[in-house]
Amino acid sequence: MSNQNGVPSLDYIGPQGGISNARYSRVAMILHWSIALFIVFNLSLGYFMEGFAMPFRLIVVGLHISAGLTVLALTLVRVVWRLSHAPPPYPDSMTSWERHAAHYAHFMLYAAMVLMPLTGWAIISSHPRPGSPGAIAEAMRHPMPPMAMTASAKGSPGAGAPPRKFVMKIWYVLPVPVIAPIEAIGEHPGGLAAQQELHEKFVHWHGTGGYILIGLLILHILGALKHQVLDKQPELARMGIGKRVRSPRKERAADHHDR
Ligand code: HEM
Repeated sequence: MSNQNGVPSLDYIGPQGGISNARYSRVAMILHWSIALFIVFNLSLGYFMEGFAMPFRLIVVGLHISAGLTVLALTLVRVVWRLSHAPPPYPDSMTSWERHAAHYAHFMLYAAMVLMPLTGWAIISSHPRPGSPGAIAEAMRHPMPPMAMTASAKGSPGAGAPPRKFVMKIWYVLPVPVIAPIEAIGEHPGGLAAQQELHEKFVHWHGTGGYILIGLLILHILGALKHQVLDKQPELARMGIGKRVRSPRKERAADHHDR
């Protein structure tokens, strides 16, 4: 809970006089857990979805894209929220190196939460616009159109046949936008090779970023568990899991009320 200035409520003054039981605001908690859910969903599907059979593959890729773009949108809200609402201070028991490590890890997590969706978005944008001269030249070379934005009518349309336009939608509602300057590179056949090269780079960065993100998440969870289990601090309660330690003042008030 925050006060009017957005400063989290400070419920418990710890043994050393420091604050050990402050929580993130409700909005920060909702953003944290919803982003976490979508990221875990995307990491668990990302490495396998290309191997699924059609049309299941198209459904799963659509969900992956929807979840990823939702992460990007929620992360932007979260950054604005974070800049305008001070997070609860670290407990006194945290050493200086732990504070530095936590800051660095959080910064890296924010970077991943922006860069993973952006590289994914760049992957699906690095195809020529359906119907453009580049797309027609591409269709002549490869009978099947690129997976992400177009789908053939039934089965292979045969070399040169114009693909039926398939519009992928975010959560089946909003058409997925593409990054126009990246899509434009393949507008004409002369740009196809450069666009293809870029596409491979984006796929490589997106896949490597996924492994880095998994590493960061493991560190993040281990750090939280260390404070919770070894240091016996109410670390998980800061993000809404479990109960807070009651402040001595509230404890006395509750006792008084019970009498
Ligand atoms: C937090 C967000 C995201 C996470 C954690 C994530 C994670 C992943 C992972 C781990 C892979 C497997 C990469 C590989 O096989 O090397 C993948 C593949 C893919 N992702 Fe994402 N992704 C996210 C967002 C997005 C977004 C926003 C889009 C599109 C708008 C997207 C499009 C794709 C595509 C098209 C592939 C298949 C790449 C290929 O192998 O051709 N992703 N994702």
